[in-house]
Amino acid sequence: MDSHELPVAVRPAALVTGGAVRLGRAITLALARAGYDILLHYGHSALAAAETAEAIRALGVDCHTVPHDLTDVAGIPGLMEQALVALPNLCVLINSASAYTQATIGTTTAEIFDQQLAVNLRAPFFLTQAFAQQVGRGHVINIIDNKVAFNQFQYAAYLLAKKGLVEFTRMAAIEFAPGVQVNGIAPGVVLPASTRSAAYIAWRVSGIPLQRQGASDDVTRAILYLLDSPFVTGQILTVDGGESLTHVGQNAAQFDPGNV
Ligand SMILES: NC(=O)c1ccc[n+]([C@@H]2O[C@H](COP(=O)([O-])OP(=O)(O)OC[C@H]3O[C@@H](n4cnc5c(N)ncnc54)[C@H](OP(=O)(O)O)[C@@H]3O)[C@@H](O)[C@H]2O)c1
Repeated sequence: MDSHELPVAVRPAALVTGGAVRLGRAITLALARAGYDILLHYGHSALAAAETAEAIRALGVDCHTVPHDLTDVAGIPGLMEQALVALPNLCVLINSASAYTQATIGTTTAEIFDQQLAVNLRAPFFLTQAFAQQVGRGHVINIIDNKVAFNQFQYAAYLLAKKGLVEFTRMAAIEFAPGVQVNGIAPGVVLPASTRSAAYIAWRVSGIPLQRQGASDDVTRAILYLLDSPFVTGQILTVDGGESLTHVGQNAAQFDPGNV
């Protein structure tokens, strides 16, 4: 054990889906800094997962990586078993992995629909079920999206799945109480896709009352708040600078680069 490593017996552990890159990576690092051992789930990003795991271990906690295609629902109980074998102190599940495919209701194929629902709703549903059955204590936090406040149809199946995840969060909070608290976080614009232009971000920010883009820290702070809040369950904490309060919800399909 390194001299700066925390004693293993006192460390809680967290399973984070989609934890290799972007917001998921920020979540794993924030939990590691808070003293959690990490089970880092990833899909295709094996190299990034290994790099993130190294960064986590450098913080003095343990980290295991596990690949799993979340459209494979039959493998989810086994994923939870693996997590528990690796980290018996598992007490947190963060459902952050997400698939984000652009298609309106009119252009959504059955294949897109099934894939978006499978990753964004079915996987968190069965991961939560497996967590409740196999762990039975602690916290589930579902990462949602502030767009659930709107009815934008440009990412129709994605948004429908996230709206379903809101209701699932509330239902699971009741079914799995008192052992497991189930909450959600609905971020606004934090890490937009790399294809989004600076002009697009500026336009989005112009519709945000707090007049700035969110940072990963804004989301991880909300996660740490929920993990430190024993009397909060079934809640969706929106972290979006007030964007959803306006009921406008600017989105990529409305953006006119020639008119900013
Ligand atoms: N970024 C933002 O500003 C923002 C705004 C609102 C809401 N959110 C929500 O916050 C969460 C994290 O956002 P993000 O932008 O960091 O997410 P992201 O980059 O879109 O996706 C996160 C990870 O999900 C994993 N994933 C996707 N399909 C999978 C599958 N079939 N099996 C296994 N893993 C799969 C991928 O892992 P691999 O790379 O390993 O394949 C991917 O890196 C998401 O739930 C998102 O909806 C984010």
